[in-house]
Amino acid sequence: MSAGDSFVQSIEQRRRLVETLVHAGDLRTQPWRLAVEAVPREAFLPSFFRPVDGPEGTLWEPVVAAEQESLALIYQDETWVTQLDRAITPERTQLPVAGVPTSSSTMPGLVVRMLEELQVDDTAKVLEIGTGTGYSTALLSERLGGDLVTSVEYDSVVAARAANALRAAGYAPDLVVGDGLDGCAASAPYDRVIATCSVRRIPVAWLEQTRPGGSILTTMTGWLDASAGLVRLEVTGKGRAEGRFLGTTDSFMPARPHDRPPLSDDLFDWLSESAPEERATPIGPEVLDQVVNWTCAYLAQLAVPDAQVIGISEGDGPMVNYLIDEGRRAFSALIPQADGCWRVRTAGPVDLWGQVEAMHARWQAAGEPSLDLFRLDVTPTAQTVRLMDSNQPFGSLPLGT
Ligand SMILES: C[S@@+](CC[C@H](N)C(=O)[O-])C[C@H]1O[C@@H](n2cnc3c(N)ncnc32)[C@H](O)[C@@H]1O
Repeated sequence: MSAGDSFVQSIEQRRRLVETLVHAGDLRTQPWRLAVEAVPREAFLPSFFRPVDGPEGTLWEPVVAAEQESLALIYQDETWVTQLDRAITPERTQLPVAGVPTSSSTMPGLVVRMLEELQVDDTAKVLEIGTGTGYSTALLSERLGGDLVTSVEYDSVVAARAANALRAAGYAPDLVVGDGLDGCAASAPYDRVIATCSVRRIPVAWLEQTRPGGSILTTMTGWLDASAGLVRLEVTGKGRAEGRFLGTTDSFMPARPHDRPPLSDDLFDWLSESAPEERATPIGPEVLDQVVNWTCAYLAQLAVPDAQVIGISEGDGPMVNYLIDEGRRAFSALIPQADGCWRVRTAGPVDLWGQVEAMHARWQAAGEPSLDLFRLDVTPTAQTVRLMDSNQPFGSLPLGT
C-alpha cells in the first residue's frame, strides 16, 4: 500500500470511528469530534498485542503495523495492549505469550468519554497521568494545544516511545517521566487532572496542584481489583475536594505504586501456623465479584482496603478463597459447603470477613444503592465515602500519598 493510500484509508477509518463513538454516546461535542478526526491512532500503535485463547487462559499475539489488517484493527473501539509484565513489547516476540498488561492504548470510546467528562474550555490547563502510547495526550494536545498539556508516564521505555510518536505527529505537550501520583509541581496549578491509570485514593499532590474550582477525573480501584468506575471531584480548598462516583463500569490498570504488593515468601508458613476460628457466614465470595454486583464488590473492598484475595487448593478439596491482610497478619478463608452455604475460618487481630459482612449488611439496610448514589469527600485527614443524602460515613479510602 502506498503512503497516499494509507493516508486516505486512515482518514476513512477515523470518520468511521467518529460515527461509532457518536452512536455510542461517547463523543458528544464538536471540538472533541475534530480532535478524533485529526489524530492518527496508528501513529501511536506501531505494534500491539491482540488477545487470543490459550490452553490455560488468554495469550497475547503480537501484531505489527506492516500487517495488512492492522489499520482496521487499530480503529476498532478496542483497547490494544502494548506492554506485558512491565517489559515485554510486541517486537520482542513472534509467538503469542502469556502476561499481565501493563501499558496499552485505551479504547477510544472510554478515552473520549473521559475527555468529554473533563468539561474543558479552550483555556484549560490539563495534567494527564499515564501517557501510555500518547494517543490520549495527542487528543488533548489537538484540542487545547500542547502548551496547555502536561502528561506523566511512570515507565521510561513507554514514555520514550510516546514522546517519539507525539513529536512525529506534530504535537508538543510537556512530557514527564515519573510517578504521576506526585503530579507535576513544575507546571501547577492545573484546571483539570485526568488519570488513565487507576488509584486507591486521591493522591495529595493532585489536590495540591489543582486550582480551587478545578477538577480531578479518575477511576478508583483497590487490591481486590474492584473498580469504582469514574469519579469526578471538584477541588474546594487546600487538600480538600468533593465529588461523586459517576456510576460507570470503567476500569484501568492500577497506578504502579498503588498496585497490590507481592505476597511474602513466608505467607504459607504463617497461614499454617495460625489457629483460626470457624463459623457460618451468610455471604460468600460472590460479594467480592463485580460481575455479580459492581457496587457491592467496591464497597466490600472498601471494608478491607489492605486485603488481597488468593485461591488455595487444600488437598483434594475445593479451591478456597483466602482474604489476606499481610500487614496485620490476618486472614479469612471461605469454605464452600455441600448445601451451597459458606463457612469462614478467620485468624489474626482483625476479623476481615466480619468487616465485609458488616459492610454488606449496611449496604443491604440502605436498600442496596448503586455507586452513582455515593459521594467522596476528601479532607487533609480522610477520604470518606458517603451516600449522597447522608453525613454518615459508609467507608474510608486507605490513607497515604
Ligand atoms: C491504560 S495506559 C494509558 C493509556 C494512554 N492514556 C493512551 O491513550 O494510550 C496506563 C498507563 O499508565 C502508566 N502508569 C501506571 N502507573 C503510573 C503512575 N504512577 N504514573 C504515571 N503513569 C503510570 C502505565 O505505565 C501505562 O502506560
